[in-house]
Amino acid sequence: MKIEDLKKEALQKLEKSASIADLENIEKEYLGKKGRIRELSLSLKDLDLEERKQAGIKLNNLSNSLKEKLELKRKMMKLMQIQEKEEKEFLDITIPSPKIKRGHIHPLSLARKELEDIFTHLGFSIVEGPEIEDEWHNFDALNFPLNHPAREMQDTFFIKQRKREELSQNEKLILRTHTSNVQTRYMEAHVPPIKIIVPGRVFRSEATDARHEVCFYQIEGLLVDENVSVANLKAVLESFLQEFFRNKEVKIRLRPSYFPFVEPGFEVDMSCLVCNQKGCSTCGKEGWIEILGAGMVHPNVFKNCGLNPKNVTGFAFGVSVDRLAMMKYKIDDIRWFHSGDLRFLKQF
Ligand code: DAH
Repeated sequence: MKIEDLKKEALQKLEKSASIADLENIEKEYLGKKGRIRELSLSLKDLDLEERKQAGIKLNNLSNSLKEKLELKRKMMKLMQIQEKEEKEFLDITIPSPKIKRGHIHPLSLARKELEDIFTHLGFSIVEGPEIEDEWHNFDALNFPLNHPAREMQDTFFIKQRKREELSQNEKLILRTHTSNVQTRYMEAHVPPIKIIVPGRVFRSEATDARHEVCFYQIEGLLVDENVSVANLKAVLESFLQEFFRNKEVKIRLRPSYFPFVEPGFEVDMSCLVCNQKGCSTCGKEGWIEILGAGMVHPNVFKNCGLNPKNVTGFAFGVSVDRLAMMKYKIDDIRWFHSGDLRFLKQF
């Protein structure tokens, strides 16, 4: 009777068990060394032989069947655990992956690349030079006399150097104010004919506004050969601007101007394409935007670079890539370029 009760109780507990830990508890409680079955078998010693034998067999059977049932349930639970895990961790490889975000080419890089292509087709080579430059190559060799106000014209960032006053012009360092520095570097090292463009960053210490930045990009052009004329200069400038804007209607205005390294010198304006000459912040309500400086290479520049001005002539020009990009992409403020504003950048 007692055995039947124990069996009933154990099976009920087994039925209710919901975890492997439950099963372990049941095993310990009934089948353990100090478990209930063992306990009951110890109490059998008072029975007579036949009864004891019968009870022994029953207890033994109970013990075996409980073991079996526990084992079976444990296996089932393990299987269920695995199944649950598989369901939780199921990976649907047919779901489309999230879109990879792509970067954008910066509008200044776009413009530079396009300009390089145009000039390469016109037969120019692309040359680069240092952004930290000495005063000789940025100013002196380009015929800026010492203490000439033109040096202040291009508000310069000077590099702090010890005992700067005692250094030679070749040693005094600045951030280049224009890419014209490479004119002189290139002419020192090469013989004509020379046909190069120089793209790169330049630096000016000045207040920023819609048209001015402390750091912007220029492309310098230099062509040196025999019998080069203003007509050649004009032809090159016109075809590159029309090509860049894909517009044969682009108008150019040449005004006499002064740059120490050219004679004669010109300022080249082009019709403002942002407002179609109605007047906007890009052109300062002028309808024209000053886009280029140009001229015929000054004899002193040739001399400073070891060339004889009697034998060679040439033209040079300098253009702001930022301004060209602003005109082309109709950008009304130069400060957008370095703003890092994605609403702006994503349009390119
Ligand atoms: N270097 C001048 C500037 O940054 C631009 C320039 C003007 C370049 C006339 C030239 C030139 O080569 O002939 O303002």
